[in-house]
Amino acid sequence: MSIPVHTYDAIIVGAGLAGCAAARELQKAGKKVAVLTKLHPLRSHSGAAQGGINAAFSDADSTELHEFDTVKGSDYLADQDVVEFMCQRAPETIRWAERMGAAFSRNTDGTIAQRPFGGQSSPRACFAKDRTGLTLLQTMYEQAFREGVEFWDEWYVADLLYTEGKVYGVAAYNIRNTQKALFNAKAVMFATGGYARAFKINSNAHANTGDGLSLVARHGLPLEDMEFVQFHPSGLSGNGVLISEAARGEGGKLLNSLGERFMEKYAPNAMELASRDVVARAIIQEIREGRGVGPRKDAVYIDLVHLGKEKIMERLPELRDLAITFLGLDMIKEPILISATAHYSMGGIPTDKLGHVRKSNSEFVEGFYAAGECACSSVHGANRLGANSVLEALLFGRFVGKTMVDEVDNIPLHKVTKTDGKAMIDELAWALTNHGQESVPVLREELQQSMTDNAGVFRTEETLIQQMAILENLRQRYQNISIKDKSKVFNTELQEAIEFGHMLDYSLFIVASALNRQESRGAHFREDFPTRDDEQFLKHTMAYMDNNGKITLDYMAVTLGKHEVKARSY
Ligand code: FUM
Repeated sequence: MSIPVHTYDAIIVGAGLAGCAAARELQKAGKKVAVLTKLHPLRSHSGAAQGGINAAFSDADSTELHEFDTVKGSDYLADQDVVEFMCQRAPETIRWAERMGAAFSRNTDGTIAQRPFGGQSSPRACFAKDRTGLTLLQTMYEQAFREGVEFWDEWYVADLLYTEGKVYGVAAYNIRNTQKALFNAKAVMFATGGYARAFKINSNAHANTGDGLSLVARHGLPLEDMEFVQFHPSGLSGNGVLISEAARGEGGKLLNSLGERFMEKYAPNAMELASRDVVARAIIQEIREGRGVGPRKDAVYIDLVHLGKEKIMERLPELRDLAITFLGLDMIKEPILISATAHYSMGGIPTDKLGHVRKSNSEFVEGFYAAGECACSSVHGANRLGANSVLEALLFGRFVGKTMVDEVDNIPLHKVTKTDGKAMIDELAWALTNHGQESVPVLREELQQSMTDNAGVFRTEETLIQQMAILENLRQRYQNISIKDKSKVFNTELQEAIEFGHMLDYSLFIVASALNRQESRGAHFREDFPTRDDEQFLKHTMAYMDNNGKITLDYMAVTLGKHEVKARSY
């Protein structure tokens, strides 16, 4: 077995905002860096972020308020040192992005415009119409490219090179021709994004299959707070495509079948701009109690007609197009149909605020970093505020990149060994030649539907136990798959088979962590334990998987700070 080896100072997996920002820092500092991505960088999911990026810089706002809103939004599970780190650096990050070329929407006096978002004390989300993520991604990609970063587009990372507490590269294959290679480096950063594709109705790109998380977990490393999956209140009915919170920020009203503005009951002060977990639950509650709308009565209305054509065309043009394309509804003339959609993962690969990946509560993995949605630093705790994720990806991507610049020369290069790459070769051979009866799309449909039904917005011990049994069954049947396409060229059926293995692995973490957390906090709502229990559960979940897919749970203390733990209401 001879696989080519490419050697770099640093390797970054994922070319969204976090990956591009980190790569730019490293390359600019003279380090040799490669970015591997299974897509073209500009198709990374950061580009789908619509509504904005938070920074407290208006006279009426302050970084302290931004910190407070973030900690309260997190249902007090966020680590306050990390929240402080992010909020204090947010205004400078916006100015930096602007200098890099990001064109933000402006007020008439030329200052950067900011719009209200849920759970925030002040209009704080800077935006570029409703294409904020795309604008920033294009800017960061251009800047990384300009510095000379080497992008390995359409390379699928199939394994992490790891030994005894140290990461030294990745094994990957070229999706275009299945050519394999090892990438050896002193430092590796994962910026592999989220995993909401495990749910039937979701706002995520097809690529968001959470590969990065299970690649880490398969080496016995922990994943943190995986029970906290964010359901965004407004996905287009039927397919979950995102209708940005900007729609509510600009004044959109939520209505049920009786024409009631039902948020009055659930969040009388903040109304539609309560935090996402609260609004998503309210929508599902209205539907469950028979006040849904639409042909299947499984949606509610968001009414934007009163904003008028001019404002909608200026501020929300993309959202209008999406609703016309997918539902045939024009928000200028009529309310559109939305419901909750799986959107974001608060949990992930545990890191400190500088992106160092944890091996356990107290130890770190040498040479390994993570940032963006795949990481859990934990800046969002149990529920993320809208427009804090674009900020997180850009800001932590940049600062983790800077940390790697400072540290990489002191990390010894651990050379690849003869057996590195074998796991990838075996996995590809298995997926191509296995002759079972099961089909990946059928299994995936079962996974997505059952995760939505049993581990979605509302959960109970009974549904979670049922879901564990379903996952065990799916894992057995996965061993019995076969694929029809045996070619080596752009074999998407092969890629989907491998991705599905990852979806099964991290779903185990979601369900096991949710089952053991016998309380409701942020996005994790247990109908059998409907209140928050700080005495027992003001702590992070740290979950580990063994070779047989058995999950073991541990817990880690939350870093508290000046924002006192209180009851949360909006
Ligand atoms: O609603 C949105 O525009 C999404 C933003 C976010 O998830 O931060």
